[in-house]
Amino acid sequence: MSKLLICGNRRLEGRVPIYGAKNSALPILASTILCSEECVIHNCPILSDVYVSLKILEYLGAKVKREGHDVIINANSIDRYDIPEFLMRQMRSSIIFLGAIVSRMNRAKVSFPGGCELGPRPIDLHLKALKQMGVTVKEQHGCIECHVEKSLKSGEISLSFPSVGATENIILASVFAKGKTKIINAAREPEITDLINFLNKCGAKIFTNKEGFVIIEGVSRLTGTEHRIIPDRIAATTYMAAAAVTGGDVLLEGICSRHLSAIFPIFEEMKIKTCVVKKQLRLWVEDRPRCVKLVRTMPYPGFPTDAQAVIMALSAFCQGTSVFVENIFESRYKHVDELVRLGANIKVEGKTAIVRGTNNLQGTTVKSYDLRGAAAMVVAGLGAQGETCLLDLRHLDRGYENIEENLKAIGALVKRIE
Ligand code: UD1
Repeated sequence: MSKLLICGNRRLEGRVPIYGAKNSALPILASTILCSEECVIHNCPILSDVYVSLKILEYLGAKVKREGHDVIINANSIDRYDIPEFLMRQMRSSIIFLGAIVSRMNRAKVSFPGGCELGPRPIDLHLKALKQMGVTVKEQHGCIECHVEKSLKSGEISLSFPSVGATENIILASVFAKGKTKIINAAREPEITDLINFLNKCGAKIFTNKEGFVIIEGVSRLTGTEHRIIPDRIAATTYMAAAAVTGGDVLLEGICSRHLSAIFPIFEEMKIKTCVVKKQLRLWVEDRPRCVKLVRTMPYPGFPTDAQAVIMALSAFCQGTSVFVENIFESRYKHVDELVRLGANIKVEGKTAIVRGTNNLQGTTVKSYDLRGAAAMVVAGLGAQGETCLLDLRHLDRGYENIEENLKAIGALVKRIE
């Protein structure tokens, strides 16, 4: 099992590259199934989840070539409609392939992604929408089989919650459905917009409006295109928190400041300085950061649940008491016990976590239970006195490309042990 040794309390200073967003790359890779010509995806992060997506595409019959951050996919030759369980299990978000496969092949067979480290992770909204589009869905023995007679039906689909994955699946399923499909209460995350932009470049007709509707006018085919994945706003937030916790001064390169609009007010309240010039963000610290009164996770454009853990790790070092309310996932405080092991003062009651800042965190051995929890451990380890050992880097490697090299380049003392 790999682990990361972090020698904390060293000021971070220098430049950090921000790569393409994992949560944008995964649905865009899945959507290439719908294209009858070659697609070239630039700025595709080198991560284990992306590797699994490419394996799924190859298994289905697509031709896949990877050259660094560029991926070339030709899905014209796809002839399978199933995803084997071992690939489904490696990545929970593999469920986003479902809509694309049904749309292309009129049938699909995948295993159930099941519960996960963030608590139960149902896919009822995905399946309900597919059924509404005329898909027969059979769920048995952990397997989902979908079948549609002729083609998928358009119509109005109303989501009870703006689920990111369900919105993506409906968009992918409806691209070829005759007529107009309207998604009411669709998710509006930047990664959804990136998927829509990619599909429209391939000839899809997808529109969004201010009320949160996504309207898809069915087309008969999609061509190929070249597309650049948007920067990873959560990786950017993680490096911002890492620099701030060490009293550092860093320049993040390749960010999109618009996507960080819910993050900046938090840093401002913490009295951490930021300045954006084009795609570069400078962050520096003049005094010990202050607490933040209330962080409530919300669907975009609200504060992202994926940034909750890393901001909580930072707040553990701040002056004063910060309050977090997690509204998106049921069980997204697993990092709290590990932060407490490092000396943080955090109490959880239901959806609320109260963090009393201290500057007395001491390195020790910690675990991670999910991707962003692992990132929170890295942030806390960088700020703590002495050595922190983060066990099991599988989660971290799902979402952070080159993290130890990037941290070393700005002065961190970190070492991966395989
Ligand atoms: C995506 C992101 C993940 C992020 C999350 C919320 C990817 C690959 N992952 O996950 O990093 O944390 O959005 O921003 O993009 N729900 C249901 N039924 C469903 C679907 C969802 O009850 O059918 C619930 C979930 O349990 C959860 C909430 O809705 O409580 C949000 O889930 P959703 O927006 O679907 O997240 P994901 O797409 O899984």
